[in-house]
Amino acid sequence: MRIFIASFLSYFVITLSGFGQTAKPVYKDSSASVEKRVEDLLARMTLEEKVMQMTQWTYGKNANPNNINDSRKKVKPEIGSLIYRSTNPAFRNDIQRKAMEESRLGIPIIHGFDAIHGFKTVFPIPLAQSCSWNTDLVKQSCVITARECKIAGVDWTFSPMVDVARDPRWGRVSEAYGEDPYANAVFAVAAINGYQGDNLSDKYTIAACMKHYIGYSLSEGGRDYHYSDVSDQTLWETFMPPYEAGIAAGAATVMSGFNDLTGVPASANHYTLTEVLKEKWGHDGFVVSDWGSIRNLVDQGVAVDRKEAGEKALNAGVEMDMVDDVYLDHLAELVAEGKVTIATVDEAVRRILRVKFRLGLFDNPYVEELPESKRYLQPDDLAFAEQIASESIVLLKNDNSILPVKANVKKIAAIGPMVKDSLHIMGFWEGHGEARDVTSIYKGLKQEFAGTKEILYAKGSDFDGDDDSGFAEALKIAKESDLVMLFLGEKRNWSGENGIRSTLALPTIQERLAMELAKIGKPLILVLSSGRPLELMRLEPLADAIVEIWQPGTMGGPAVAGILSGRYNPSAKLSITFPLAAGQIPIHYNQRNPARPMGYYQDIPKEPLYGFGHGLSYTTFTYTKPTASASQIKKSEKLIVRTEVKNEGTLAGKEAVLWFITDPVASISRPIKELKYFEKKLIEVGEKQVFEFVIDPAKDLFFYDKHGNKHLESGEYIVEVQGQKLAFELVD
Ligand code: NOJ
Repeated sequence: MRIFIASFLSYFVITLSGFGQTAKPVYKDSSASVEKRVEDLLARMTLEEKVMQMTQWTYGKNANPNNINDSRKKVKPEIGSLIYRSTNPAFRNDIQRKAMEESRLGIPIIHGFDAIHGFKTVFPIPLAQSCSWNTDLVKQSCVITARECKIAGVDWTFSPMVDVARDPRWGRVSEAYGEDPYANAVFAVAAINGYQGDNLSDKYTIAACMKHYIGYSLSEGGRDYHYSDVSDQTLWETFMPPYEAGIAAGAATVMSGFNDLTGVPASANHYTLTEVLKEKWGHDGFVVSDWGSIRNLVDQGVAVDRKEAGEKALNAGVEMDMVDDVYLDHLAELVAEGKVTIATVDEAVRRILRVKFRLGLFDNPYVEELPESKRYLQPDDLAFAEQIASESIVLLKNDNSILPVKANVKKIAAIGPMVKDSLHIMGFWEGHGEARDVTSIYKGLKQEFAGTKEILYAKGSDFDGDDDSGFAEALKIAKESDLVMLFLGEKRNWSGENGIRSTLALPTIQERLAMELAKIGKPLILVLSSGRPLELMRLEPLADAIVEIWQPGTMGGPAVAGILSGRYNPSAKLSITFPLAAGQIPIHYNQRNPARPMGYYQDIPKEPLYGFGHGLSYTTFTYTKPTASASQIKKSEKLIVRTEVKNEGTLAGKEAVLWFITDPVASISRPIKELKYFEKKLIEVGEKQVFEFVIDPAKDLFFYDKHGNKHLESGEYIVEVQGQKLAFELVD
């Protein structure tokens, strides 16, 4: 009733002030401030209209098998948001027209979509992108994604995902920027800047959504949707930093996770959603639940029914309900019963409207309808897709510089289930990417080596199963060739949402194929496509070279071929550890020191196969011993550390320099070392480049305690670059 009176009064005042003329409402006045427009509109809305704004439905074909209960409802003009699954702008404009013309207040719909690593032009999976250590490339991939999204009518992407990877069995490590909090923070900011540009209302910018807030990646045993036991210390030092950085960079929205976070599910967690996100960090956009994560509160045992789930989620700080209809079904009742205040509803709607105004949806609700040929997969974007893929491919092993392929190699046997694939190479969350638009590895090799080398092909085996009838043909062409390239890997849905595996090893059929081929004695190049680190214990000794191409996307073929031929000099370095065996999990570079140096497995070494930051080049870079501008600094001062990197080889190449800090003794134990800065530069043959890290104690030397308080302690610190260490002192 209170709401009704408020709406009625505001309507009355507006009409009176116009003395019978229909004055343009403030919310429709593009010259008024966003806040004024929001308040004006809010005051006119009924509770039902508010609840509709807090509701998101899905529209169009749902290709994600995990998003169950996909009912295609008739879109109501008052709906707040749609997960929109078309590439046709005319279709989107028709729906928007309904909202603008058929709803009482003409509130535009915000159309969201999972454009995670591209829309039509598919870029490498985010895990791969982070191995490039190239923030400009990551940002540009998001600029292109935003443009393709907007052209289709998408206003909002559910990206970036910044759940720091902790367990590679969890399939969603493919969607994060690796195992390091700082790397996730830096790439999150790059992605947000790419999607959102300088101004959310620009023609080709879209709203970003950081997800899945928070602790989702620590789900037990890597099992998706499961309980996450996250200590407060880990929450603050590992999982919060990327979100904090993204909010500071202006991320418009956040998605709450499915996971139960140490007893208080992420979608009902007042501490993380309100006290930290909104009150401490000042986020003024909105939080959308994950798909069904509100009703899941019942499954997780913290709500007796959907209604109580809605009460808990909204009171905790989840403003929009993704496809559950919990708010739609129960919010009015909850308000009437006083379980949710109207002020809470208003604050939720205020946040949603604010984002819509900032996106310019009220002033420009429709998107341009370009002819199909001008919309997607434009030549420059494809060239860029090849470039970012080439910088994301990690050369893990290269004995005797077998790669790049030498001139005397005339016949190459290209074997394996990945060679002619054009689906799995796109990875999970391929957006609207289509296999027909992908340049496969086979095509890439043919183009790359046209006129210089003959490419023989045999599939050898499938990705899994036990059919080895293709082995004979594979062995035959291997024998006829000078070099064997074996392209193994994972199917796209072995990682991504619900892509969980108990092992990181490839299926036995693929390992057997490699073993048989190795027996022939020809040089063997192992090329791996996966959405996670793989267990290569048995395969590594067989191969002369190993190349991890991840899931490189639409232009994966030419990028891979270009790396193998030497047209591209590999410059990627691992942003995630490759364990020797899955039994080593959790294993990440920034663990803490054990009490005793022993305490490892009896059956395998303690070291991973390939550590964080590992990645080879076709050239040789030498680093000078790092130098510092002082041996002691005050907390208010900065220290400049420097190293000179020289290209001593015969090929130009890019080098990513990673700087780590160790805090050997502190009031609480600290990780062995932590990445604090990185930079990548092109270094020509014979050239030297100076890399500098300006250490700002307030930014680079503090640590969080379990309450989220920052501590900066005096004492000794060690800065490390390429394994070389330099100690310095921080004084008060
Ligand atoms: C569930 C996934 O967890 C989330 O990442 C995605 O954005 C939503 N579904 C919408 O598709």
